[in-house]
Amino acid sequence: MSEAPVSPAVVWEVINGYTAYQGLVAALELGLVDALAACGPDGATAAELAGSVGAADADHVAVLADLLVSIGLLDADGRRYLLTPAAARFLVSSSPAQMRDLVRLSPGPQQAWQQLAETLRSGRPSTRVTVDPAAYLAPLVEATAPTQRAVATATAVFLDAAGRLPAAPLVIDLGAGSAAWSIALLAARPEARAVAVDLPGVAQTTRRLTADLGARVDVVEGDYLTVGLPDRADVVVLGHLLRAEPPARARELLHRAFAVAGPDAVVVVTDYPRPAPPTDDETDRAATLAAARHELTLALTMLASTDGAGVTVGQLSAWAAEAGWHVSDRLEPLPRQHVFLLRPDGAARSDRPARTD
Ligand SMILES: C[S@@+](CC[C@H](N)C(=O)[O-])C[C@H]1O[C@@H](n2cnc3c(N)ncnc32)[C@H](O)[C@@H]1O
Repeated sequence: MSEAPVSPAVVWEVINGYTAYQGLVAALELGLVDALAACGPDGATAAELAGSVGAADADHVAVLADLLVSIGLLDADGRRYLLTPAAARFLVSSSPAQMRDLVRLSPGPQQAWQQLAETLRSGRPSTRVTVDPAAYLAPLVEATAPTQRAVATATAVFLDAAGRLPAAPLVIDLGAGSAAWSIALLAARPEARAVAVDLPGVAQTTRRLTADLGARVDVVEGDYLTVGLPDRADVVVLGHLLRAEPPARARELLHRAFAVAGPDAVVVVTDYPRPAPPTDDETDRAATLAAARHELTLALTMLASTDGAGVTVGQLSAWAAEAGWHVSDRLEPLPRQHVFLLRPDGAARSDRPARTD
């Protein structure tokens, strides 16, 4: 009996992923999703959509819209196209949870991908996003702000319930970006203040987004490893920073956060942790990696355009232990948004069991 032919489907899945991505970027750029939102529950035909977005040919719009239906981003009822709940929530520009700009910005600069093989050969990225922070990082942090505000608000609720937020905490938000974390923590405590640090080129964005908090937020420009900081904070936030640094700098940054944190403080680390390295008794490594595809994709994104390549929970825990700290709680307020709360070893533990796997 001859063996069943091996299918190339997995290869096509990757190729088609690229095409689908480009289709979605074009649909957003054309305003196709917003046009459908404006049509209400009856949706629109390809001809109506072509008219709304200024496309030359209704059949061309149908090709794009049909593809988006096949992916599950749009729905179809006969000749009419409709938004799926996911598209309505995450892709319509007026939605508070919209990720429209993130679709374009999340993969990082295009040229970094074109040079990925060379980056792997040389061990150094061809393009670093920190070289011109205003060009890429400033729009990126604005694009991530709605999600990070939601994650930070949920974390503030947890800290409050666990009795970890004093009445007037000082927050140090390193690599603050949109200052989503400072803003959420200050919303939880009217007398809280924050020092938000970011690079020149992004700090203007941080300042603009915190302007209505006035003197409660001090935006400081500089490198988070060397800039002057207050020496006793209640909450120190490292939001999506460690993964973009090489291990030695990531460890140094974490230790700096511990050094400026007071004895009852909490250090908040948010990241997309890479899976732990394989162990001898791991039975299905492929399943572990398949479950971590999102985090692995983001680690490769870091490798392409930063000096980092992601961090593991094991690295975080080991660096913390060196300084006499530990991961006391692990939260996931939104799917795949991982928050680690770190506390000094002597500090009282929370009632909730820690997950440090
Ligand atoms: C991925 S963004 C995260 C922003 C924010 N912490 C959050 O979680 O939403 C990384 C931020 O770190 C800033 N950054 C990168 N390197 C830095 C450095 N050496 N010193 C200060 N800020 C830095 C970037 O400009 C950017 O705003």
